[in-house]
Amino acid sequence: MELQTERAARLEYTVATATRGAAAIDIVKTKKCVFSGVQPTGDAHIGNFLGAFKYWVASQDEFENIFCVVDLHAITVYQDPATLREQTRTVAALLLAAGIDPERSALFVQSHIGAHAELAWILNCFIPMGWLQRMTQFKEKAGEDRESVSTGLFDYPALMAADILLYDTDLVPVGDDQKQHLELTRDAAQRINSLYGPTLVVPEPSIPPVAARVMGLDDPTKKMSKSEEAAGHAILLLDSPDDIVRKIKRATTDSQRDIVFDRQRPGVFNLLSIYQGFTGGSEAEIEAHFDGKGYGDLKGELAEVVVAALTPLRERYHELMNDPGEIDRILADGADRLRPIATATLKRVMEQVGLG
Ligand code: TRP
Repeated sequence: MELQTERAARLEYTVATATRGAAAIDIVKTKKCVFSGVQPTGDAHIGNFLGAFKYWVASQDEFENIFCVVDLHAITVYQDPATLREQTRTVAALLLAAGIDPERSALFVQSHIGAHAELAWILNCFIPMGWLQRMTQFKEKAGEDRESVSTGLFDYPALMAADILLYDTDLVPVGDDQKQHLELTRDAAQRINSLYGPTLVVPEPSIPPVAARVMGLDDPTKKMSKSEEAAGHAILLLDSPDDIVRKIKRATTDSQRDIVFDRQRPGVFNLLSIYQGFTGGSEAEIEAHFDGKGYGDLKGELAEVVVAALTPLRERYHELMNDPGEIDRILADGADRLRPIATATLKRVMEQVGLG
């Protein structure tokens, strides 16, 4: 395909201009690059784990993975400075505790690489207002306040496009809520390419193999969400075993008996999906396992499975947080490894546009 040839040529250029280690060059040539962004806000929960973290950890050998804690995106709405700094470290520690290996993957903080903001500015100048006005996430977040929210909130997708495009990303794992932003990223890259000739790699979406969609325990018709306040809504990755047991016990079910994967019964369906997410196993195997048992058994066994899966993660997390300097060192190292790639892409765009 033409794109592949273009990409190969561009990679040679990137490799020639960037100062990279031999190992990094090897990885770039043989593996697809996957970019994931994580917000440093709110508490990560089992929906994040089953829907994203789990696949990220499992795909570290298959792809060249880049994980970015997006602190510049966080400040599109006001953040308390100390909390933001703390959450940035917390999210990084959670990813490491979940199994992201900084030797095999790159983990870094967005604001540590200046090229993100710089490329976002340039992209701004090629993204029509109309594209941004159509973003449903902006419309939802801004609501009636359109005149008073920050320009950054409106422009959020341009920065996300910069994140992705800086690393010649091939694949971006996206849930439903981010699909439209990835489309805009593709459109922006194509616009630059058609104005200036091949400059940016146009990324593709990648949907996780089993779209694990974990719903709220209190209301199984709503996706489990970081911003939901109700105490029984989400199981957080750092919840104590007691909290986990209590939340699962109180989870909404229904007045029937059979324990089967029936979408018409969202409460039981959700509990079974979570069970499946943590144990593997097919729907038929899980239904056979619970045949003749009651909701009490389902909840009891599910709580055991979740506690067993999260305990080592929680322990690793606390170990890491005992030594914040080590986390900071890992993040600084991630940024140092990636900066030459980002800088080379930015330089390529600047040259094409006539800057610098
Ligand atoms: N917008 C994403 C979210 O809210 C986070 C994000 C920022 C991102 N930059 C990205 C995701 C680049 C994927 C690729 O979840």
